[in-house]
Amino acid sequence: MRKLVAGNWKMNGLRADGLALARALVARAAAGDNPDCDLAVCPPATLLQAVGDTIRGSGIALGGQDCHAEPAGAHTGDVSAPMLRDIGCSYVIVGHSERRTNHGESDAQVRAKATAARAAGLVPIVCIGETLAEREGRETIAVIERQLHGSLPEKIEASKLVIAYEPVWAIGTGRTPSDAEVAAVHAHIRGLLAARFRSAGETRLLYGGSVKPGNARELLGIANVDGALIGGASLVAADFWAIAQNCP
Ligand code: PGA
Repeated sequence: MRKLVAGNWKMNGLRADGLALARALVARAAAGDNPDCDLAVCPPATLLQAVGDTIRGSGIALGGQDCHAEPAGAHTGDVSAPMLRDIGCSYVIVGHSERRTNHGESDAQVRAKATAARAAGLVPIVCIGETLAEREGRETIAVIERQLHGSLPEKIEASKLVIAYEPVWAIGTGRTPSDAEVAAVHAHIRGLLAARFRSAGETRLLYGGSVKPGNARELLGIANVDGALIGGASLVAADFWAIAQNCP
């Protein structure tokens, strides 16, 4: 399966920064030194239009960072999945741990968002992952199972779903699980998907949390790791590109 490397810019970038970053990525794509994987960037909502215009035709896909479960209505401040589709997105991140923590999003809400994303023609990138306390309490697998069970839409084609395993304690900390730990969780997720889908092998399982150019080759080489979701390092074009170029 072709891997996917997606950049989650989070709440970063004024117009000039976002445009400079997008232009730097497009310049690399145009230089022909393309990584052997699919690429996507998920800028903040304010930059979707400008970044989308800049990357059009470059082969780099556009994604949102969140969407509402309803297509439209009285939801001040929210952005719907059809709106993201309309502006040119093909992906949307749902259930990122920062949304789960800062906005109290439940598995049921994440499922509703992922369902709405699919209905709008977007591929949801559903994030799951345990906290440090949960890992230390040896609850990682139980947490992953619960989140996966609760967050995935009832009906979705395996190939139109991306799952990102992001241990909360690895996000933005410079810490990562061992290769064996990542392999164990990803194998477990694959097994859970296999119980649901005949074509479970078509769902891309990303690893996320402190992926950098220096550890990308190792992480992207682990069995059942079909790509990466990159936070901090995706804000530096050279780093994002270097990570993608480490796709085996
Ligand atoms: P990080 O973030 O790469 O900065 O650790 C990953 C994420 O939150 O998706």
